[in-house]
Amino acid sequence: MLGKKLGVDLGTATVRVITRGEGTLIAEPSVVALREGEPSMSLLGLAALEAAANDRSLVLRHPLHGGDITDRRALSALVHHAVSRAVGRQRIFKPDLVIAVRSGMSGDNRRAVLDAAARAGSRTVYLIDAAIAAAIGAGITVTSPRAHLVIDIGAGKTDLAVLALEGTVASRSLTTGAEELFDHLATHAAEVHGVSLDRAEVHAAARLLVAAPHEERTGEFGGVLLSSHELAPLVTAHLRSLDAAVADVLAETPPALRRDVTGNGVVLTGGGARLEGLERHVAAVAGCSVRVVSEPEGCTVRGAALAVDNLDVLKRNFMYIR
Ligand SMILES: Nc1ncnc2c1ncn2[C@@H]1O[C@H](COP(=O)(O)OP(=O)(O)O)[C@@H](O)[C@H]1O
Ligand SMILES: [Mg+2]
Repeated sequence: MLGKKLGVDLGTATVRVITRGEGTLIAEPSVVALREGEPSMSLLGLAALEAAANDRSLVLRHPLHGGDITDRRALSALVHHAVSRAVGRQRIFKPDLVIAVRSGMSGDNRRAVLDAAARAGSRTVYLIDAAIAAAIGAGITVTSPRAHLVIDIGAGKTDLAVLALEGTVASRSLTTGAEELFDHLATHAAEVHGVSLDRAEVHAAARLLVAAPHEERTGEFGGVLLSSHELAPLVTAHLRSLDAAVADVLAETPPALRRDVTGNGVVLTGGGARLEGLERHVAAVAGCSVRVVSEPEGCTVRGAALAVDNLDVLKRNFMYIR
């Protein structure tokens, strides 16, 4: 029996691991609980959140922020738990990993991810840009000469890339994602209406946001009436960096490939792709059709797992270090 092949997505909100062959899926909040002075003690995800709620000697740490590593000890613990659980009891053969990371991640951070994966007991580790993994997960043939534009919107980061012939033609990597809009919405409700909306109310209110830029839509959330007109400036401000990034990558794409992109349409992945009305907004900005993949949150990890089986074909896009 050979070692397992794991696709890993180090999401800002959720760490996901797919074990090829078994299809086992790990999806845990990207958080670990650590105890000072006890380096061997750590918990991952939901278990960490639950334990820390009852034990004040535990501290919760989020290793990723804006798609970058902000806490290396927490990253090591997170990768260790994710890999161990995916590998299970069978430890004789070490696993091969493909880990999707933000394309703008620095060399230092890439090294930290590779280190963590090596210490977690992997045989080989490759890093793949999240947008390429997302494209593969969306079923796009990245080896094709025809260009595609993929946008992966996570909780705390956004990756965009025009891809063709296994390569990146133009790309942008933003350190903001869908959560930023929710934060602005919550702040607006607190400052303007004096209400503190819970997470579910904020998510519900988000349906007013991009959904109706030109028509008036209203809804009651946390006891106050909010309207799409009132919230429009928040959305415009939030989407400005995405709009600019879409325009930039298209401008950097040679005309023939740009025609491919507009012919094929833009593909939206990541949980942020679920924002109602975003599809229409991006279509207007890019000047072409837009498709949201089904189960958009899992697209990147599915692509990473598919890439483990295609190391030879895809080697050009893997980086040990940058
Ligand atoms: N209906 C929705 N509208 C807008 N954003 C959403 C919706 N559902 C989920 N999201 C966003 O998607 C994020 C999760 O996306 P995901 O790709 O899993 O993030 P990451 O990979 O960065 O961990 C959530 O944090 C939330 O911000
Ligand atoms: Mg994601």
